[in-house]
Amino acid sequence: MTRVVVVNGSPNADKGNTARLLKPFIEGMREAGAEVRLLYPKRMNIKPCGGTLSCWDKHPGSCGYRDDMQSAYPLLRQAEILVLATPVYIPLPGEMQNFLNRLCPLIDPVREKRRGRTRARFRSNVGIERIALVSTGGWYEKGNFDTVLKVAEEFAETTSVEFAGALLRPHAHVLRPGDPKGDAVLKAANEAGRALVLTGKIPKSLADAVGKPLVSEEEA
Ligand SMILES: Cc1cc2nc3c(=O)[nH]c(=O)nc-3n(C[C@H](O)[C@H](O)[C@H](O)COP(=O)(O)O)c2cc1C
Repeated sequence: MTRVVVVNGSPNADKGNTARLLKPFIEGMREAGAEVRLLYPKRMNIKPCGGTLSCWDKHPGSCGYRDDMQSAYPLLRQAEILVLATPVYIPLPGEMQNFLNRLCPLIDPVREKRRGRTRARFRSNVGIERIALVSTGGWYEKGNFDTVLKVAEEFAETTSVEFAGALLRPHAHVLRPGDPKGDAVLKAANEAGRALVLTGKIPKSLADAVGKPLVSEEEA
């Protein structure tokens, strides 16, 4: 069975646009047989990384902070797929960045050159093979996701795993309950969740269906 950890870094946790897009996506992954764990950093006690790098040097793989990341680390080590879910906050909410920084103990700082850049990789006891992104933004254009997409792609590159694709939903308020304009988006998100588990990728056609304009720029 494929194990998935979804991290929803929205300060609105399960009440926000990101959660609305994630719901059918997670259902799709479960329908395809995955075991999905959903984490909300907003509801966890997570100290900011202290920057000592002791998880790389003195105590490889281990973080000295005894907070809620200690229960997240085993889940993350056992997962095959990591889904980063976040609203665009020029570029990320603090909760999401904080969580990403605290993933350092899972990373082996091998400092190897790949395609002209110094990179690391996940430690050998971390099962994550691919990373996907689910993101919502309030503004009209898809270009508002450029930085968030780059962050997720860079994270996958630096941990040496495959980037499996992204669902990017602009003017995400159209997903509010009762607005039928969002129905096709939610359906495509469901299919994308299934496809990610069954094929390891989010197909471009489904990413396009999730990201397409649903109102005119004046209406957005
Ligand atoms: C501090 C802050 C910064 C934001 N910056 C952007 C932005 O740069 N581009 C954008 O499209 N939306 C921006 N938004 C809007 C959110 O990304 C959007 O409303 C998102 O769907 C919220 O998701 P949530 O309800 O899950 O928190 C911003 C919102 C906040 C609160």
